Amino acid sequence: MKILVFTEKPFAQAAVKAIENTINASGNELLLVEGGTREDLLEAVKEAEGLIVRSDKIDGAVMDAAPKLKVIVRAGAGYDNIDLEAATAHGICVMNTPGQNSNAVAELVFGMAVMMCRNQYNGKSGTELKEKSLGIYAFGQVGRNVARIAKGFGMRLEALDTFVPDAVMEGEGVKPVHTPEELFSENDFVSLHIPATPQTRKSIGYDLMMKMPKGGVLINTARKEVIDEEGLMKALEERPDLRYISDIKPDTAEEFEKRFASRVFFTPKKMGAQTAEANFNAGVAAAEQTIAYLKNGWNKFQVNK
Ligand code: 3PG
Repeated sequence: MKILVFTEKPFAQAAVKAIENTINASGNELLLVEGGTREDLLEAVKEAEGLIVRSDKIDGAVMDAAPKLKVIVRAGAGYDNIDLEAATAHGICVMNTPGQNSNAVAELVFGMAVMMCRNQYNGKSGTELKEKSLGIYAFGQVGRNVARIAKGFGMRLEALDTFVPDAVMEGEGVKPVHTPEELFSENDFVSLHIPATPQTRKSIGYDLMMKMPKGGVLINTARKEVIDEEGLMKALEERPDLRYISDIKPDTAEEFEKRFASRVFFTPKKMGAQTAEANFNAGVAAAEQTIAYLKNGWNKFQVNK
């Protein structure tokens, strides 16, 4: 059977080789399209029974163009790029690969935090992470890795996650809090790990930012959609001590950069999961999951109904 790997942002070469070996060894055939356009996707998907993607937008039109498609695996955690309802209507199983790239994202959180504390390495005196407090918004796979690394920096930790029992956080030396207001008002840094859903859309804005202690830093390695950009700008305007660093460029990035210069930073392209290790882990997991579904309907990580 044909398995299409379509990635606008390519995996590391070693990961691609490993995916290819895994697919070949299973007796299936790899179709590889890297850095392609939507037209390329619509053409390539025609023959595919399995599809592996990253943040690439997969909507009903892609599925219409893919009459043989049985399974889509998102090599990564967030699946907000895939139209789940359309997939269900087309009888297609959608899975993600939870945990496979979470360490990479968590490490970037600290790369970003240090960068901000050291004034983007401009030579001026900065501050340290030790003994500062970090609020982790969502205590899933990435959030837990963030907690593990933060302990090495000597940070105090709080987390908010309504799906995780307090005892689990306490067991990892993290103080549970139960409202976003507590999380923002009690921490020098807040790191976002919530998914983009109708409930979280634009949920982080003026009110929460204004609650942060002096010098507060918001770190976003989650999704741009969870930010109310207008509200965040208003808070940055009124509080010259606040800072925002994000691995996902806001829609209004140029305005942020023009108005707040050294107090904001955005990576040019989402880089959280862009490591050789994360590409390898998520890519091979996606290949194995696709093969297993095509072979015997294995669907442990299915995310659509
Ligand atoms: C994820 O949801 O797994 C991360 O945001 C990584 O996304 P990417 O594969 O597009 O880099």
